[in-house]
Amino acid sequence: MTQLPEDPIAWIPKLTKDGSFTFFSQEFGEMFHSRQGAKTEAFLKFATATDLVERSQQSSLRLLDVCYGLGYNTAAALETIWAANPDCHIEVHGLELDATVPNAAIASPLIETWSLKVQEVLKAIAQTHQCHTPQLQAKLWIGDARQTIQQLSGFLADAVFFDPFSPSCCPQLWTVEFFQQVAKCLSHKGKLATYSRAAAVRSALLEASFKIGTIPLGEAHAGDRRLPHEWSQGTVAAFKGDRLCPLSLMEQEHLQTRASVPYRDPHLSDSAEVILARYEQERQVCQKEATSSWRQRWGIK
Ligand SMILES: C[S@@+](CC[C@H](N)C(=O)[O-])C[C@H]1O[C@@H](n2cnc3c(N)ncnc32)[C@H](O)[C@@H]1O
Repeated sequence: MTQLPEDPIAWIPKLTKDGSFTFFSQEFGEMFHSRQGAKTEAFLKFATATDLVERSQQSSLRLLDVCYGLGYNTAAALETIWAANPDCHIEVHGLELDATVPNAAIASPLIETWSLKVQEVLKAIAQTHQCHTPQLQAKLWIGDARQTIQQLSGFLADAVFFDPFSPSCCPQLWTVEFFQQVAKCLSHKGKLATYSRAAAVRSALLEASFKIGTIPLGEAHAGDRRLPHEWSQGTVAAFKGDRLCPLSLMEQEHLQTRASVPYRDPHLSDSAEVILARYEQERQVCQKEATSSWRQRWGIK
């Protein structure tokens, strides 16, 4: 008998380098997190990149977790905020296509990554798609984020965690039009963080009216081997550019190359294949510098 994708047994924990676990998606052909460390990624590229320690001095915070998955970005945010201010009230909206993912992530050993308080939250969200306590209002919207986000009308997040599978696997969620929907859910002082540093993603963010900055590489540890293409850990977007880490000259020039052609999905309903075909067509006629010249100029293999 064919195993249904809904079967939770399909989700086998994979150990990452920081000792935390993630899953591999057969459907998208990708890991859910960086092999360097799932938990580390959630803290560094999402909680830290959106300034949650500083923001936690507010009495309340609103978070939008696009592609909730195992819930690690929400979990790292809750840990960060409540460590700095245990009284901070948090409202979280999570968007996720596949309810079996959060459900499989509340099993051992994955759930033990988090404090007992956060474990209880992740369990409630996975089992009932919501969690209400005096300190937290959380709701998990199951479905295609391109549609569910439209139900968040009026919600303005202080921090958006933007974490789909990579653009070539899941172009639907990296389009100009989807970023325009996300922009409607970000407060004027809020920040969006994503692990992607792709020029196509950055140009889509710019076209959707965001200002962008880089997430700089952290300190290199002894024995770390940094590859030439590792120039950033991702992108932060906001409506104001003053609290962003500016792009390096190399990154700015990347945005002038053909790699910066963005993904488009005019009606927020096309399949990955249709979006990729449209993207390839636009690249073919693009007059910008070939990305290979940029790579050569900056010594990127
Ligand atoms: C890279 S994983 C997210 C990992 C997650 N942020 C975490 O910390 O565990 C991408 C997630 O996007 C979900 N996804 C894929 N297509 C989607 C769509 N159209 N709408 C909403 N979620 C989607 C997948 O089911 C998967 O859980």
